[in-house]
Amino acid sequence: EKGGYEHFMMKEIMEQPKSVADCLRGRVIAEQSHVKLGGIHHHMEDLMNANRIVIIACGTSWHAGLVAEYIFEEVARIPVEVEYASEFRYRNPIIGKGDVVIAISQSGETADTLAAIEIAQKNGATVLGVCNVVGSSIARVSDEGAYTHAGPEIGVASTKAFTAQLTVLTTMALMVAKEKKMLSDVNLQKLLFELEQVPQKIEETLKLDEEIKVISALYKDATNFLYLGRGYNFPVALEGALKLKEISYIHAEGYPAAEMKHGPIALIDEEMPVVFIATKDSSYDKVVSNIQEVKARKGRVIAIVTKGDVLIPKMVDHVIEVPDVHEILMPMISVVPLQLLSYYIAVMRGCNVDQPRNLAKSVTVE
Ligand code: M6R
Repeated sequence: EKGGYEHFMMKEIMEQPKSVADCLRGRVIAEQSHVKLGGIHHHMEDLMNANRIVIIACGTSWHAGLVAEYIFEEVARIPVEVEYASEFRYRNPIIGKGDVVIAISQSGETADTLAAIEIAQKNGATVLGVCNVVGSSIARVSDEGAYTHAGPEIGVASTKAFTAQLTVLTTMALMVAKEKKMLSDVNLQKLLFELEQVPQKIEETLKLDEEIKVISALYKDATNFLYLGRGYNFPVALEGALKLKEISYIHAEGYPAAEMKHGPIALIDEEMPVVFIATKDSSYDKVVSNIQEVKARKGRVIAIVTKGDVLIPKMVDHVIEVPDVHEILMPMISVVPLQLLSYYIAVMRGCNVDQPRNLAKSVTVE
């Protein structure tokens, strides 16, 4: 049942080339510039004319929402807010007709997300669900939606559901951008071709497995970790930190790299491992300066970089090289080494990675 792997988590990490490909099937055909999610057909007009999009989710699904915020704003020019379902539901939110809510949930059973949807619907907003579990409560109550088709996710730590959520949300944003003619035909097609190549690039990234295992052994006894990224990789930093803390019980924090100097920089000394997600994108130069700031304080740096980067490897303790891809798609690639890092560290610490203490796969209580 674990496909020859020791844990479901590893099986699910390794399945990502397939789960992302399954998620794209029939929805994206770059050759024909085709991009369409059948499940949101009837509410396409709402989405195109939305005053704003409000994304509601918890945990890893909320991180996928943060990536989607940047993508929607960039390619479709619609203002987006990303809300924790638990905060949204209890604060008399301003929401109504003209707003489109995207609710993201792997299980489709998260109590806070479900309750937030009810409030949004009661106030007249359209709710689109992005769920993995077919027929789940959130999938049923949403006005329409798109499944992530990642297959069952058993490990408590969400991995393949996250990359599938990013696939659906990116597809949705590109679909809206196409309808609104926000992208030139050439640019749209280029992005669709790159999206089609993501499964293959994840496959390539998974080959870094052994290399990441070696790095994991060096840091398994750390008591703290900091994860830093900017732009599209900022939510990846949050996700890397969540993954590590939930399965290895090492305290980890994710931050937008520029926020470091507003507090967390005080934590940095030679004992502090700092993971930078520093791929070649529009914030690259800024991230390089942040790496310098950490090195100047003797922090130990593990950097996720784009293959062929010659600058960062000279500055840091360890590099993990991932294939190049358009920056809006990078989180689907750059998160993979962080999933593996947390997995190996947790296994080396003797933790139960599939069922970490105090956690449940679906949080059906508020
Ligand atoms: O099923 P959902 O996507 O609604 O679950 C949300 C969170 O409970 C979930 O992502 C949680 O944070 C994971 N354990 C993270 O790995």
